Amino acid sequence: MVQDSGSDGIRRGPLFAVRGSVLHFPSDPGGGSDPGPGTDCFEDGLLVVERGHVQRIGPAAPLLAALPPGTPVVDHSGCLVMPGFVDTHVHHAQTDVIASGGSTLLEWLERHTFPVERGFADPSVARATSAFFLDELARNGTTTALVFGTVHRASIDALFEEADARNLRLVAGKAMMDRNCPEDLRDTPQSAYDESRALIERWHGSGRLGYAISPRFACTSSDAQLTLAGRLARECPDVLVQGHVAENVDEVAWAMSLFPQARSYLDVYERFGLLRNSVYAHCIHLDAEDRRRMAALRAAAAFCPTSNLFLGSGLFDLAAADAAGVQVGMATDVGAGTSFSMLRTLAEAYKVVRMTGRQLSARRAFHLATMGGARALGLDDRIGSFLPGREADFVVLDPAATAIGARRDARARTLEERLFALMILGDDRNVRQTYVMGVPMLAGR
Ligand code: GUN
Ligand code: ZN
Repeated sequence: MVQDSGSDGIRRGPLFAVRGSVLHFPSDPGGGSDPGPGTDCFEDGLLVVERGHVQRIGPAAPLLAALPPGTPVVDHSGCLVMPGFVDTHVHHAQTDVIASGGSTLLEWLERHTFPVERGFADPSVARATSAFFLDELARNGTTTALVFGTVHRASIDALFEEADARNLRLVAGKAMMDRNCPEDLRDTPQSAYDESRALIERWHGSGRLGYAISPRFACTSSDAQLTLAGRLARECPDVLVQGHVAENVDEVAWAMSLFPQARSYLDVYERFGLLRNSVYAHCIHLDAEDRRRMAALRAAAAFCPTSNLFLGSGLFDLAAADAAGVQVGMATDVGAGTSFSMLRTLAEAYKVVRMTGRQLSARRAFHLATMGGARALGLDDRIGSFLPGREADFVVLDPAATAIGARRDARARTLEERLFALMILGDDRNVRQTYVMGVPMLAGR
């Protein structure tokens, strides 16, 4: 029985295999430059996929011998085959805002972001941008994303419909924002609650889709809106919450002036019941108590290095997050982020960590970009690794796809060195193929 011929034209049955350097990062190797275990790698390896799920991984020779005769084997020898990337914070509607510079957060929102988001009132704009955005994720090896939408309900319908058509695992939500933003981008406490609820009922748990309750940030939501958002989070305990926190010093001061009773900016969210089971972007200007609260309530931090550097927001303190036990995922945060590429994002993360005097090993970086993100989203029982039964979302990376990459890769003596050079030099050119539940997404490769 032919399951799917995919865009590479290879006829795969319900059972097929991929040969290459097969590796995954199921446990966190910890900080520092001398990573402990946490990586399983089979240099000449095989990933066996059955009905869109991982059946097993291991050394090629014995696994090939054990396959039923005639099982298709896709040869990606020379490439790395690893779980697809998880982008834990990205704005699909800001695809066309990317590379709009010259300002810090609050001015950037007013000058560049809100005008583009206004266009998403038109569902045809929302649909066309969603299609481009999702294809761009696949081109970069990202197979799961937590997407921060615009205020418009129909734009989230369009995003989910396009993700569903590609069978992509996606979590997304409609932005809630009822003050301190342009009039025509405001909802109300009740409409935000009602529309979010309707979107949850329609999409949450449908196929590979999930919903996230999405108050934009404390500065653009009234007390009444945050109260209703918190009620919705209580009513739907398996639905994620996402937002922004402690990105920029002016933003922190503004949030504190709007909520003077709060102990800290992060505390605003906790007071409204919006911290449990959440993912907050940036988390730069936090204190030790904030990090303790995040760890206690399973609130994850989305580390957005290209965005934080681009807007001059500050340096995420990965060591402090680790010490407090805060779950961390990697995020592009396009359009303040400057690339859809998780490889480029890891390169900037490495530099941010160096600026704080610490080290980020390549193994740890790839762990954060795969399993770390899956954990942040509460999806590590389905994605993020090649443990048996996981959904077969994976990326095939060719370290030698560029001339300089080929030269550097030829000199790499260890897996860590190979991964390190790939993350520092890599981008979308290194993505040879992206598979979603065992189906290749990139035509002509
Ligand atoms: N804070 C509130 N909204 C946004 C946004 O769209 N991007 C970033 N980087 N920060 C925000
Ligand atoms: Zn953001």
